Amino acid sequence: MKLDLPRYTERFGAISLHGVQRVYELDSGFNEGRPASEAIRSVGNVEISEIERKMAIVIPIKGERLKLLEGVLSGIPHDCLTIIVSNSPRQPVDRFKLEKEALEQFNRFVGKNTLILHQKDPGLSDALKEVGYNSIFGPDDIVRNGKAEGMVIGMLLAKMAGKDYVGFIDADNYVPGAVNEYVKIFASGIAMSNTPYTMVRISWIYKPKVSESGLYFSKWGRVSEITNQYLNSLVSYYTGFETEVMRTGNSGEHCMSMKLAELLTYSSGFSVEPYEVVDILEEFGGILPTENQDAMDKGIEVMQVETRNPHFHEEKGEDHLKEMFNGSLGCIYHSKICPPRLRDKINEELRGREILQEGREPDMQRNIQSFKSVDIHQFAKILHDRAISFVHSN
Ligand code: GDP
Ligand code: CO
Repeated sequence: MKLDLPRYTERFGAISLHGVQRVYELDSGFNEGRPASEAIRSVGNVEISEIERKMAIVIPIKGERLKLLEGVLSGIPHDCLTIIVSNSPRQPVDRFKLEKEALEQFNRFVGKNTLILHQKDPGLSDALKEVGYNSIFGPDDIVRNGKAEGMVIGMLLAKMAGKDYVGFIDADNYVPGAVNEYVKIFASGIAMSNTPYTMVRISWIYKPKVSESGLYFSKWGRVSEITNQYLNSLVSYYTGFETEVMRTGNSGEHCMSMKLAELLTYSSGFSVEPYEVVDILEEFGGILPTENQDAMDKGIEVMQVETRNPHFHEEKGEDHLKEMFNGSLGCIYHSKICPPRLRDKINEELRGREILQEGREPDMQRNIQSFKSVDIHQFAKILHDRAISFVHSN
């Protein structure tokens, strides 16, 4: 893959927030070659393959159409470990069983290393309880509903499998070629990074909408534009310079080195993606004290890479949008480093959109603790013994 080196960077404590990088060539061939310009990096296929072998791709899924899941599976490079974490209904139709069968059938043809697990499996809860990982449970002592919860379980499985990198791809993507590109971008970002603590976020070139006059290739999702604006305001408040650096606040497609992933705190449900950025700013921005001195010394890099493929996914309707707004802006609002002036602005924004009533605050999402200190061998042992929904194919 040939892509931009970061052209501008906001530095915030130990964090380098890189501006959006473009892709020039999806496949730049085998050898590293000589890039035509010093501002461009060529990541060869050998280097990409080596990183893919150390990478797990987590697909969080809840009741998506099977055809879409099958497409996503086909787009993930063979050498990555594919992990499906499902919260699909089991009644009246057992949707999880259908997903499992689709995965098994796929595996019969491709012979790939895959894991699948249901988020609500009581055996999974047993394993989590045993290692003291409690912040992910609901009142019934079973893992809560939520995309973030699924992602965290996926990361634990990736760690259990000994992977160095973990990426996320939604199950509702219509274009397998786009899925493939996301993973190539993840690997290229990792290859370009200068620290073991790295995050690579996907910026979609277009998010097409169907309109009466045909396809309209819009640049921004309705929520993401606003989320990015407030994330940028948060950065600007501390640096004193306005910035537009953050473009991927709501990007579900992103990847991290395990070393970074295991240090972060995660926010429930759909606030997970913007909160990753907020948490990085809180933890490594130098404003609040941190226990992670090694990361402070080596630095944290956040890259954002713009795809060549447009992003086609399922449109989920107005209620979902409101939930996204509330979660995304709410997690900035409740951040320990959010200045009062920004809080007022967020309140105004949410009230203007009739998401928040006068005199109320945005919902505070529950947090999921970092998993660095989880005894992963103990977790694995109990999971293998007790989680009946857990299937590992090789
Ligand atoms: P959007 O694309 O950000 O608007 O959100 P989606 O509704 O498409 O959700 C993103 C992904 O998360 C999809 O693959 C969903 O199926 C999946 N998802 C949503 N809720 C849950 C959940 O509770 N658990 C899991 N494991 N996945 C979920
Ligand atoms: Co979606």
